[in-house]
Order: sequence, then structure tokens, then C-alpha cells
Amino acid sequence: MWRCACQGLLDIEFQSTFDLERIGARPRTLWRYREAIPIADDAHIVSFDEGFTPLTRIDIDGRAVWFKQDHLFPSGSYKDRGASVLVSKLKELGISRVVEDSSGNAGAAIAAYCASARIGCRIFVPQGTSAGKLTQVRLYGAELTEVPGSREDTARATLKEAATTYYASHVWNPFFFQGTKTFAFEVCEQLGWRCPDTIVLPVGNGTLLLGAYFGFLELLRAGISERLPRLVAVQAESCAPLHRAFTESLEAIPRIATSATLAEGIAIAEPVRGRQILRAVLDSEGSFLTVSETEMVQALRMMCAKGFYIEPTSAAAVAGVSRYLGHADDQETIVSVLTGHGLKATEKMARVMAEIV
Ligand SMILES: Cc1ncc(COP(=O)(O)O)c(C=O)c1O
Repeated sequence: MWRCACQGLLDIEFQSTFDLERIGARPRTLWRYREAIPIADDAHIVSFDEGFTPLTRIDIDGRAVWFKQDHLFPSGSYKDRGASVLVSKLKELGISRVVEDSSGNAGAAIAAYCASARIGCRIFVPQGTSAGKLTQVRLYGAELTEVPGSREDTARATLKEAATTYYASHVWNPFFFQGTKTFAFEVCEQLGWRCPDTIVLPVGNGTLLLGAYFGFLELLRAGISERLPRLVAVQAESCAPLHRAFTESLEAIPRIATSATLAEGIAIAEPVRGRQILRAVLDSEGSFLTVSETEMVQALRMMCAKGFYIEPTSAAAVAGVSRYLGHADDQETIVSVLTGHGLKATEKMARVMAEIV
């Protein structure tokens, strides 16, 4: 079961507990928060010892900002957080074959963990996805289908397959978010079990933003933190349905016209969990902002010049941090994230280098 019989979204209610001393004594992986991850039996855990990525201070426009280096995950993006937990659940359920659709990184992550668990998988991606991500999916042994048209066309093609094969969707499947929520636990622990003031995240389908929100809520409920951080969600100017809904106070996500963007990972015109993302941002007293292609290219060049080789989608978050700093107060602790590795998008990086974009 990956969605409700009424066709609606599923979420997981789970009583997480945190024994800080025990957690501190465990290996530095996301599985150190074992009592917060709803997998019944350790024997089912599918893991490459991923997680607990460095939280590094980086100077952005003269201001120190913390960045989680989630581009250093085994498959090269933060999606491994969700894939490790979701594929562990698949193993627990005895599922032997799945389908998934993605802009590339989630597909690569699911394919990697399915390879480890010996679960067959077929990944659908939009035509034009970065060659590095396609190669990864294929070499992990997954079947790859490139779908002409938009990211939404890819999702529709996959839904048809999902009528007969289990849908390991990083967007629909609630177990994926049980993995991405570990982002919040790690940030909090790495700051000395303190909650930051603000988190700036790139958002398309919101798998990291919602995971972080769920994670910070659990820490609040467990009495470990006293508040939620403000969630600042960054979208590409050329594909920003959530930003529009936020600025125009709409309840539903509007249909928008889109244009091409370097940020393939957040080019989501119809986010399935759109309303939920809006509610999470509002609940945290956060906001949405957009960044232009030029700002992304500048941020990408700036980060590479500092030695951080990130993909263009990740540069959207860095550009968002720059924008946000314009109205941040001096004492604020700001955390952001480097979501994907630049080696996945070599052809796009080469275009940036040659100043074609
Ligand atoms: C590198 C990278 N960053 C950010 C995102 C955004 O994630 P989401 O669409 O879940 O908000 C993605 C999604 O594919 C991605 O690949």
C-alpha cells in the first residue's frame, strides 16, 4: 500500500524516541536514530553506512552559514536518506520488484539500494535527464525508461505501471520521508542538540523539506527542542508553483507555465504534496523565494571556486541563501544543504564553465 484507498496521500504516525547518550555512542550513520525509524527488524536494514554528513560553515556574502554536505552520500545525493529506509521497508514486506519515477537522483538512489537488497527495479525518467544519473541507474542494474515530455508525463507513465508493480515512489511513499527526516536529527545533534533558527532548502516535490519538517516536529514533541526552525523554501523562477501559491495566499497549487531551468531536480510543476508543503512552511512561520538562472550560475561558480563541486539544482539553494541573507538578522543560525554531487551533471557543468548558460 503506497496510497490511501481514497487515492489520497499516506503519512506515518510513529512514536519516535531519542536516548541522546545511546545515540552519541553509535556509529556515525543515519541509523544511529534507530528508535525513530519505523523498521521492525534490524535484519531488514539496507544500508551503506550512509548519513551523518558533515555540517560545514561556509562564508556566503561575508556571513557564516552552515551547510549539510549531503552531496557526499553513496549515490551522490541526499535521496539516499529516503532510499535506505524505504528499501529496508520493501525488504521487510518481502517485495521483489518495484517501479519508481524521478528527475534522476531519487531513481539512482532507489536503484542503488535495490541492487544491494536484490530487489528488481524499473526507473522512469524524463528525456533529457543528466547522462551521469542515467548511467548510474543502468549500472546499478535497474531497467531504465526515458519518457518524452515533462516530469509530469513521466509520473503519469509510472502510475500506469504502478497498477501492477509496487510503487517505490519517493513522493507518494511515506517511508521515504521517514528517511529524509534524519536530516533534522543530524542538524540538531551537530549543533549540540540545538535547533537552528532558519533552514533554507531547495524544493520541488518537497521530499527533503517535508522530511525535515517531520523530523523537527518529532524533536519538538520529544522535548529535545523548544521550537521549529523557520523553513525557507527555494524554487527556480522558471518553475515555481508553490512560491506563487504562497505569495498569492492560494489554497490549491495553481497551474503554471514553465520554462527550461538548469535546476532539473526542482523542475516540478505539479507537486503531489503541494498543499502539505505549503502548510509545513506556514506552520514554521517560514517563506518561499525564487532564484533566477543567472543567480544559480553565479552560486554554482562561487561554490566550485570554494572547492564544493555541487550540481546546478543544489546551487539553487545556495542562491536562495544569498537572497535570504538580505533580510536575515545578525544573530540568526542559518542552515542549508548541498543536495547533489556535481559529477552527476557533467554536461550541464561544462555548459556553465563554457558560459553557454
Ligand atoms: C540535487 C537535488 N536537490 C534538490 C531536489 C529537490 O527535492 P524535492 O523535489 O523532493 O523537493 C532534488 C530532487 O530531485 C535533487 O535531485
